[in-house]
Amino acid sequence: MALLVRDYQDDDLESVVRLWDVTTPHGCVFGLAECIGALRSGEPAVVAVSGGEIVGAALAIVTGDRAWIARIAVARANQGAGVPAALLPGLERLTVERGARRLGYVAPPEGEAVDNLEAAGFTMQPAMAFFEKVESVGPGESGLLESLGGRVLPSGLWERISGMEAEKTLIERRVVLPLQEPELAQAHGVMPPRAIVLFGPPGTGKTTFARGIASRLNWPFVEIFPSRLAADAGGLANALREVFAQISEFERVLLFMDEVEEIAPRREGVPTSSVHGVTNELLKLIPAFRERDTRLLVAATNSVRSLDSAFLRPGRFDYLIPVGPPDATARRALWKRFVDVSGRTDVDLDTLIAATEGFTPADIEYAARVAAQAAFERQAVHGAMPALPGAGTDDYLAAQRQVRPTVTQAIRQEFLEDIAAFART
Ligand SMILES: Nc1ncnc2c1ncn2[C@@H]1O[C@H](COP(=O)(O)OP(=O)(O)OP(=O)(O)O)[C@@H](O)[C@H]1O
Ligand SMILES: [Mg+2]
Repeated sequence: MALLVRDYQDDDLESVVRLWDVTTPHGCVFGLAECIGALRSGEPAVVAVSGGEIVGAALAIVTGDRAWIARIAVARANQGAGVPAALLPGLERLTVERGARRLGYVAPPEGEAVDNLEAAGFTMQPAMAFFEKVESVGPGESGLLESLGGRVLPSGLWERISGMEAEKTLIERRVVLPLQEPELAQAHGVMPPRAIVLFGPPGTGKTTFARGIASRLNWPFVEIFPSRLAADAGGLANALREVFAQISEFERVLLFMDEVEEIAPRREGVPTSSVHGVTNELLKLIPAFRERDTRLLVAATNSVRSLDSAFLRPGRFDYLIPVGPPDATARRALWKRFVDVSGRTDVDLDTLIAATEGFTPADIEYAARVAAQAAFERQAVHGAMPALPGAGTDDYLAAQRQVRPTVTQAIRQEFLEDIAAFART
């Protein structure tokens, strides 16, 4: 059947959108909404008509003397019949009329499109690749994010968590992957988590993990501090309600609630106390928070046993994940990170690992800093000229002796009891 190419007219909008809707090419740079917006604002477009039906449509967007082809689509029944080759000259004519001298198109590097483009005089730029970053903050959200003290974290924080393989693997599988692959999760009947609790002794990396998850997901990270909320004139319950109302405006967000035992301690004693009011408020807020599948609440606590039991129920929190002190493998990774910075290869890692049982990542970080400072002062203040710069095994061991391990036998015992009583992984 004869193919007629003509300029796009306003009346064509519906047919063109229907066509685009069912023929979205793989790897299309310009989204459907962007293309419809461009059509409406009169950017150059042509349609191919066959038997009275629109069977192809092409759109360009002109900026200065450059035009980008935003979309070329052909009805399924008419594919392979040279429709793009017929559309391209029409589109080119319109863009030239608008003053464009260069016409660009980002397309998959193989297939029919390439032949059509080359036949129409386009040259492939083989050394080019298409780079794109999708910012996770939607329009209008950045002001809100700022007012909540939140931010989009840099990528790579997850990868920078040293050691802690057991925790990393668990969080990766239960939390990160289902949120990253919601369709696959759903196909397996897996509900992506909406809320989790991280519990463990101080300095084991709960905050670090929460930030790592946000960084992995590329979701904005908002942290709320119970102590700051409590200072709110309307009281803590009211402040919580307000924060949750604001959070509900985000398309995607990780809400981190640290020291959650201060907000939801076990309700005991007089039921009218203000603590009861706050715990009750939080219990009411969580179900609404859980309704959207692109939000994650991460609550952290050093004292899971002092949390209200209703707060911890499965319907509220999907997982209760222990974050413990690092084992020998994790301590090796942690020490190695600091030792590698100085570039010294003669440090006896095994001795350091053995000497720092019960040390948290925070303790190791602190000891490494003390050792580095000592080595620095030896040279900068006392003029020592070491054969090798940087802290050596003795410096690290001396520093380690100054640090009291956070996780004592008693704390370790309590943590093990908490795992037995509360962990849900
Ligand atoms: N796995 C890790 N790799 C490297 N550094 C880590 C790791 N875990 C924690 N750290 C560092 O240790 C310090 C304490 O970690 P973090 O604040 O995450 O612990 P926490 O469990 O939240 O502590 P708290 O209970 O006191 O809030 C931070 O400086 C963090 O960068
Ligand atoms: Mg913390």
